[in-house]
Amino acid sequence: MNEENYIAATKEAMSKAYVPYSNYPVGALIVTDNGNTYSGCNVENASYPLGNCAEASAIASMVIGGEKKIKTIYVMTKNDEGGIPCGGCRQRIREFSDENTQIMMCSPDGVQQRINLSELLPNSFWPEHLK
Ligand code: THU
Repeated sequence: MNEENYIAATKEAMSKAYVPYSNYPVGALIVTDNGNTYSGCNVENASYPLGNCAEASAIASMVIGGEKKIKTIYVMTKNDEGGIPCGGCRQRIREFSDENTQIMMCSPDGVQQRINLSELLPNSFWPEHLK
């Protein structure tokens, strides 16, 4: 799969978003070190704080698929600037990332910003700190 395929798959994930409250669909696609892909979308709830972010859904899918290493994560919204991961999702992504992990913030037209983990979440707290 190439980047065009990844963008299409992220857009497909975004199209599945359940967002009756915010009307702000988000799609996420993880590419793992093994080259496998896992997608997610945001899923909201009438009890607003119970909603799930797209990145969290994709991460859960990756873990149930038996994988734990994010090589690249695509995050798409309908904004021109692309999907910007929230603070909580930055920490969620960090858990399964390393210094080579790439974060692609996408609009439906494609990648708008590419950053690495240290740009996404500088000086981050991660599992090593618990040792
Ligand atoms: N949202 C995500 O899915 N990912 C983010 O990183 C930012 C926010 C969702 C949560 C909620 O369903 C909607 O976007 C508006 O906040």
